[in-house]
Amino acid sequence: MPKTEIITIHDVNESDADIRRAAACIRGGGLVVFPTETVYGLGADGTSDLAAKKIYAAKGRPSDNPLILHIASPGDAEPYAETCALYDRLAEAFMPGPLTVILPAKPTVPPSTRGGLETVALRCPDHPIAHRLIHYAGCPIAAPSANLSGSPSPTNVAHVIDDMEGRVDIILDGGASEFGLESTIVKVDGADSLTLLRPGKITIEQLRTVCKTVVISDAVAQQLKEGDPVLSPGMKYRHYAPKAPVYLLDGDADAAIRHIGAFEKKNVAVIWYGDELSRFAELLPHCTPYGFGTRGDMLTQAHTLFFLLREADKGNYDAIFAPLPERAGIGLALYNRMIRAAAHRIIRLN
Ligand code: TXA
Ligand code: MG
Repeated sequence: MPKTEIITIHDVNESDADIRRAAACIRGGGLVVFPTETVYGLGADGTSDLAAKKIYAAKGRPSDNPLILHIASPGDAEPYAETCALYDRLAEAFMPGPLTVILPAKPTVPPSTRGGLETVALRCPDHPIAHRLIHYAGCPIAAPSANLSGSPSPTNVAHVIDDMEGRVDIILDGGASEFGLESTIVKVDGADSLTLLRPGKITIEQLRTVCKTVVISDAVAQQLKEGDPVLSPGMKYRHYAPKAPVYLLDGDADAAIRHIGAFEKKNVAVIWYGDELSRFAELLPHCTPYGFGTRGDMLTQAHTLFFLLREADKGNYDAIFAPLPERAGIGLALYNRMIRAAAHRIIRLN
């Protein structure tokens, strides 16, 4: 097991030498955790089959679940993927930023990076540390989220350390992730058509401004059944799930309070809208409340969700209750992560 070096970076210019050292580690086949604007990534040289294999081992990730190739600028996709005019339009509108685009792969991308698929996922992150690291590495960086397979993605270094200490060479600490949920993933299907595989900060409404047809994959908001086709291998695996069962309550605060009050077990947590939380504390004194942004403030909810799922997990609760989010805009990303954290346990109230 490698000894993990943790480097805190406040300013990329002051820490330039450290970022160069981390980039050299990647070039030498090592593993480096780095911050992005979405969540922390677990990076290795994406052009090396051996280095990419180390990522699967460190995460305990199934080998058929491909990695995202991170590039320093949208133009760097060319050696690795068959790009097209639609890619150029997406890049122009949303890169650098929280968007991942799936395109046909070129043979330069080794099979382990692609999880054996004929396509490759490309993303140009909008974060100064990530940008410099990729630029200095001189190769695209393959990086999944820096969690153990099945856990929520880490959005701060304490949570990275919980999962990755002793499994990677270097962890770059760039503070809390700005957005807090992973990138939007789209697959290019034709000259003017995309399939949304994973919702994120870049919404369908935004995608439709540059692409005529955007189809939402069934796996985004539904539970896949045995034998359903899976466009993105990651969708079929258990994910974001704390140890305690999570229940999503579809109803207002009053109905939620009644439901939790009648629940047979008492050692429970509730993640709820901050502006309504004091009523839970008042009426359900046995229940531990966690605020995750006011109703309607979806940016704060996204920023806080994975942090809270991990923190609530430390409480050894018998159950965790949370609201079922609305599916509009960024809400679709919250909905997608929360139904999976809850293993689709949705309770209709009112
Ligand atoms: O925001 C993000 O995207 C973060 C940061 C680190 O960039 N990365 C991330 O990677 O979330 P990961 O590996 O945790 O999630 C990538 C998802 C997986 O569900 C995987 O199955 C899917 O993307 N994926 C990757 N390549 C694919 C491909 N060629 N076709 C279909 N799905 C693909
Ligand atoms: Mg992940």
